[in-house]
This record gives sequence, structure tokens and C-alpha cells, in this order.
Amino acid sequence: MRKALPDEAGYLSKLAFRSKAYWGYSDQFMQACLGELIIDIPYIENHPVFAIEVEGRVIGFYALEQVSASEAELGYMFIEPASIGKGYGRKLMDHARQQARKSGYTKIIVQADPNAEQFYRAAGGILVGTRESASIPGRQLPLFQIDLERSEIQIIRGYEYGRDPCREIAELAARLYGRQSALPVSLLQRWYRKNASIFRIAEALQGLMVGYISTLPLGASKFRETTQPDFQETSLQAEDIDNAFYPEGGGIFLSSIAVASEFQEQSPVSLLLRLALVEDLIKESYNRGIRISAQAVSQKGQSCMQSLGMQVCGDTASGWKIYYGELSGVDLRDIRNSLLDKLSARFEM
Ligand SMILES: CC(C)(COP(=O)(O)OP(=O)(O)OC[C@H]1O[C@@H](n2cnc3c(N)ncnc32)[C@H](O)[C@@H]1OP(=O)(O)O)[C@@H](O)C(=O)NCCC(=O)NCCS
Repeated sequence: MRKALPDEAGYLSKLAFRSKAYWGYSDQFMQACLGELIIDIPYIENHPVFAIEVEGRVIGFYALEQVSASEAELGYMFIEPASIGKGYGRKLMDHARQQARKSGYTKIIVQADPNAEQFYRAAGGILVGTRESASIPGRQLPLFQIDLERSEIQIIRGYEYGRDPCREIAELAARLYGRQSALPVSLLQRWYRKNASIFRIAEALQGLMVGYISTLPLGASKFRETTQPDFQETSLQAEDIDNAFYPEGGGIFLSSIAVASEFQEQSPVSLLLRLALVEDLIKESYNRGIRISAQAVSQKGQSCMQSLGMQVCGDTASGWKIYYGELSGVDLRDIRNSLLDKLSARFEM
């Protein structure tokens, strides 16, 4: 990635035209847009314009335009058609975000081509309205806002992930727990198909899964089994899992919490995952109080369970600690507050 040079104006304008045409617009439409796609020498001299080079050839570029002291607008964002879909757009967007931050902006505004909506959403953009095209009267274009102060990590539910998360979860678990102890992907998929709310996923802005927490809502008798020394998680079938996020009369078994090693220690990921779970429990148990259980072997895993209001109530046959908690609405709110305190302390470090 490097700054574009003023004498590349002609080349970049043609690249922008080819890139826009990628969406299959008519010649008439493309002619109407022509003026907007031309980037001239003064523009490059007066704005941050960055180009990405592959094997000595520029295959994409973007520009930032100042709107106010806190806001920049993405002026251009174009990739050579043959290089679309290979991750270069994401690279440009990550770079644009860094550049904008460095210049003290807190937001990037994007007037998007409707075909690129998913791209801007994946880059953390939020649809904030529409704006009329400057080239084609009456054509309303989506307007996205990318908030640069927002945490780089977001916690989403399994069904918001945009693809089946089970394989990535199984792989992350295998890396952390070892292949032997990680649950098979086929079992995760059967559970997930029954209830897509069982996973909360920590996703980095690049769309990478960096952690997850899984909780299984179980009816009363199955839930009781989870606190027995001989309980095996692999015995839980899809039909044992309740459809609701929190099962009436039963309890929730915290099957696993895991954070990719490069995001462990000091990173807020494990706290954000626990917090998202507690927020959902507060909302979805309607203040009735909940039952929760888990098993943990590592020191940190045990700390995580304690921080969720659970206490040791026995050991499994293989030496894991069994955790159990009966929490009222007030307990859940106290737990939330204490996780929030830890989170702000961690951000201050
Ligand atoms: C468990 C896991 C998700 C925790 O995430 P992490 O980023 O490594 O851990 P954190 O730095 O957030 O620390 C977690 C807690 O352990 C505590 N902790 C850290 N080191 C500890 C130690 N040596 N002994 C006891 N507690 C410790 C921290 O104080 C923290 O508690 P708090 O956040 O409530 O204050 C992560 O280590 C992981 O994925 N481990 C592998 C999978 C696993 O063992 N999962 C749990 C079993 S189900």
C-alpha cells in the first residue's frame, strides 16, 4: 500500500471506470457516471489517496475527503475487476480506517454503490440513510457510517454470523483444548440446527472469529444430569435442547467459553463474551432467576465460571470441576455490574 502519485490520475480514473462497470451497468449509465469517476491531479495532490500494488501493478485505490474535523468521507474505493473478491477491498478498508484514525477522525461516511452494501456492512458500516446520486437524478444511494471509536470486537449471536459457525468453532476449540477434547463438528451442527442461539461469537472487524461462548438450554431432568460426576456432554442430543434461549423450568449448561490465544490475556474478549451472555440472561429470563451449570479444568476457565456467579459443587470422573449457580434477577444484575467494572478497568490499562 502506498500513496498514489499525481501522474497516476489518468490510470486511476480508467481503473475506477472498469471497476464500476463490473456490476453490469449499461453504457448509458456508465456515461452518466463518467464525471464522478474521473480523478484529477489536484485531487491527488490535495487528498490522502492510497493505492494497493500487486506484483508491481496498481490494482485498487481509495481516497479520503474531509467533511468536518471529526468526519471523513470515502471518496473512491475501486478494485480492478480481475482482483475483486480476493480480499484486497478489505485491505484497503482496514488501511482507510487506520489512516482516518491517525488524522483524528471518529467516523467515515460512505455513499455506497448498492451492490457493495454487504462489503461496507462487513467493514463495520451501519446504514444511516440514503443520498441522491450526483450523476443520476432520482437515484438514491445507501449511506453508511463507520464508527472508528467502536470496539474492534463485536459479539453476535450464532444466527447473525452470516454462515454456519460450527466448523470454525470446532477448529478454535481443537486448537485450545486439543483435538481429543474438542466436540465433533457434526454434534455442534445438530445442536445449532435445533437452536441457533446457543452460540455467541466474538468477531473481529475483519470478520474473523476470535472467541465464542456456548450455552445449551435444557429441560429440568437433563439439566440436573449436567451436575453429575459421570455427565458426558457428547451424550446431549439435539432433542434435549430447548428452542428458547432460556428454558422454562430447566437450566442452561455452559458448554464452553474459548478465546483464540492471540486475544487472550488483557484483551477484553472473554469479558465481552461473558457480558453478552449475562445481558441476554437478564433480558430473556424475565427477572425470574436462572439455573446455570458448567465444567471447567483450567484456572482461567474456573475464574470465568466464578465470575458468572457459579460455585464448585463436585468433580467429574476425569477431574474437572463441576460448577452450578442459582441466580436471581438481582444476582444477574450484580454480575453484570461487576463484569462492566472489570471491562472498564481493562480498557484503561
Ligand atoms: C478461558 C478463556 C476463555 C479465558 O480467556 P483469557 O483471555 O485467557 O482470560 P482472561 O485474561 O480474560 O482471564 C479470565 C479470568 O481468569 C482470571 N485468571 C487469569 N489467570 C489466572 C490464574 N492463573 N488463576 C486463576 N485465575 C486467573 C482472570 O482474573 C480473569 O478473571 P476476570 O476476567 O473475571 O477478572 C481462555 O483462556 C481460553 O480460551 N482457554 C482455553 C479454553 C478453556 O479452557 N475454556 C474454559 C473451559 S470451558
